Formats: sequence, C-alpha cells, structure tokens
Amino acid sequence: MSLDKELRVMHACEVGATGVYRGHKCIARYFYRSSIADLDNMRLHEKDHSSIFMGLLAHRKIRPCFAYKLFFLGGVVYGALVGLLGIKAIGASTSAIEGVVNIEIEAALEKFEDEPRICELLRAMQLEERQHQESGENLAGIDYVLHRPIQRIARVGAYAAKKIALLL
Ligand SMILES: [Fe+2]
Ligand SMILES: [Fe+2]
Repeated sequence: MSLDKELRVMHACEVGATGVYRGHKCIARYFYRSSIADLDNMRLHEKDHSSIFMGLLAHRKIRPCFAYKLFFLGGVVYGALVGLLGIKAIGASTSAIEGVVNIEIEAALEKFEDEPRICELLRAMQLEERQHQESGENLAGIDYVLHRPIQRIARVGAYAAKKIALLL
C-alpha cells in the first residue's frame, strides 16, 4: 500500500472510531451516566486524530476516501448496538478495537520511518490509543461473560472497516 493510501485509510478509520464513541455516548447518556465523560474524552481524541490525518491528506494534496462520512455513521450504529449490550460490552469492544489500532500504528511507524513529522504525530496518537485500550479493559473488568465474543466481533469490525477503506 502506498503511503498516501495508508494515510487515507487511517483517516477513514479514525472517522469511524469517532462514530463508535459517539454511539457509545448516545447509549451511556441514558444508562451509564458515570461513564459519559470518559467516553466523550475518547471521542474527542478520535476527532482530533481524524483532523490530523485530514490535515496530512490536504498537505499532500490527496483526497480522503470516497464517502468517508459513512464511516462515522457505521461507527455510530455499531457503537450504539454494542452500548445496548452494556457498559462491559463497550469496554470489551474498546479494548479490542484499540488493540487493533495500536498494532496498526506500530506498522505505520515502520512504513513512515522516513517521515519524522508523521512519526511524531503517530506516537502522540498512540499514547492516547493506549489509554483508550486501558480504559476499555477497566470498563470490561475481568469476569465479563461476553468478553471474548464481543472482542471477536469488534476485531472483525475494525479489520472490515480497514478493508472497505482500502477499496474507497
Ligand atoms: Fe484514534
Ligand atoms: Fe482510540
């Protein structure tokens, strides 16, 4: 994959992540009010991340994915559905998705090794993604019955989003 395309895919995925936390927050507003601030904080981080990638795309004069806003919508639907399963489901999903994100950032750091500015941005982002992963683990706890199936669904969803972004 070219570096330009890599940035385009990462942008779309961050837009999707913003949607996921928005979906979680919509449900948390009614059922898990004590977690709203945490979820909103993560949503704001993802919004920042997508803006950073959008800035990089603009700077390199490359277009974002076609219909990238649909990633937001897809994220909201996914985030709300998972939210309906409970706050532990949100936690399990978050830790799985952010685990994937961290693997992807590690890979991106290697691909962009000749672009120090981008690596710096990726490393700053990774610190936040690690915090998200940790928050997810804390929300899920250690005895959540649906931990594994939710994590599996979350990982499949995250990789599917990446594959779709690659086509657009
Ligand atoms: Fe992010
Ligand atoms: Fe994140």
